[in-house]
Amino acid sequence: MLHSAVLNVMIKAAHRAGRSLKRDLGEVEHLQVSVKSPRNFVCAADHRAEAIVRAELVKARPDYGFLGEEGGAHPGADKSHRWIVDPLDGTTNFLHAIPHFAVAIALERNGSVVAGLVYNPANDEMFVAERGKGAFLNDKRIRVAARQRLADAIVGCGLPHHGRGDLALARNEIAAAQRAFAGLRRYGAAALDLAWVAAGRLDAYWERDLSPWDLAAGSLLVREAGGFISDIDGGDAVLEKGNVVAGNETMHRDLLRLLREAGKAAAKEAAAAPSSP
Ligand code: IPD
Ligand code: CA
Ligand code: CA
Repeated sequence: MLHSAVLNVMIKAAHRAGRSLKRDLGEVEHLQVSVKSPRNFVCAADHRAEAIVRAELVKARPDYGFLGEEGGAHPGADKSHRWIVDPLDGTTNFLHAIPHFAVAIALERNGSVVAGLVYNPANDEMFVAERGKGAFLNDKRIRVAARQRLADAIVGCGLPHHGRGDLALARNEIAAAQRAFAGLRRYGAAALDLAWVAAGRLDAYWERDLSPWDLAAGSLLVREAGGFISDIDGGDAVLEKGNVVAGNETMHRDLLRLLREAGKAAAKEAAAAPSSP
């Protein structure tokens, strides 16, 4: 399949970083039986992957800006273009040798994402999209699922990390989703979760407290697969607010409504709870 020059650059970068991560995953698998945590090793693998991606992207487009989860922001001479990169999305999975993680690369032009890639090196699944050109998994066109009833649908989500996020709100949201949907999944790699919505594997998805590198590539994949995506208030500020709701038109609308109701219930509970001294 013919890709644009820029997408070829992104694919090459993701393949290179992916090879490195896959090698490192082999090592992490061995380390599972050791009492010593592979955390430092994984941290090094993560930084290695970002360095590989950055080197490839900079070689091809030296003037573009770069925002990476590990290395932060590197402004470029070309102010209208910026790469947004998560070299290893799903770090906790990787740390536990769970083969569900990804390299995520997005290209932003004048503040909007025009190309996105999510690559899982463990099973060699490459999800790509360019604005106006559709979304693809290993060169085959993908579309969001067509299911119309929440009762038939599987929804993915994130869970607040230890010591972070609003636990009471999350409990209300999860309970509401469990009542409404056929199944609830927490796979642990936000960029890949969005790619799975684009591929019709998950019917819908929501998560809070994310960063632009978790969201940029996947949000274009969902749109180009014919899906709807917004922040949890229903607006366009997904990357800015760091929260997201995605699915086909019906799933997106119904999930937004469900989350709004769950939010109101959580606020009521909080107001009724005795205040701590
Ligand atoms: C995390 C994963 C996870 C999500 C977290 C993210 P990381 O990214 O996407 O699914 O729940 O909030 O930070 O740290 O593995 O790159
Ligand atoms: Ca991430
Ligand atoms: Ca990461």
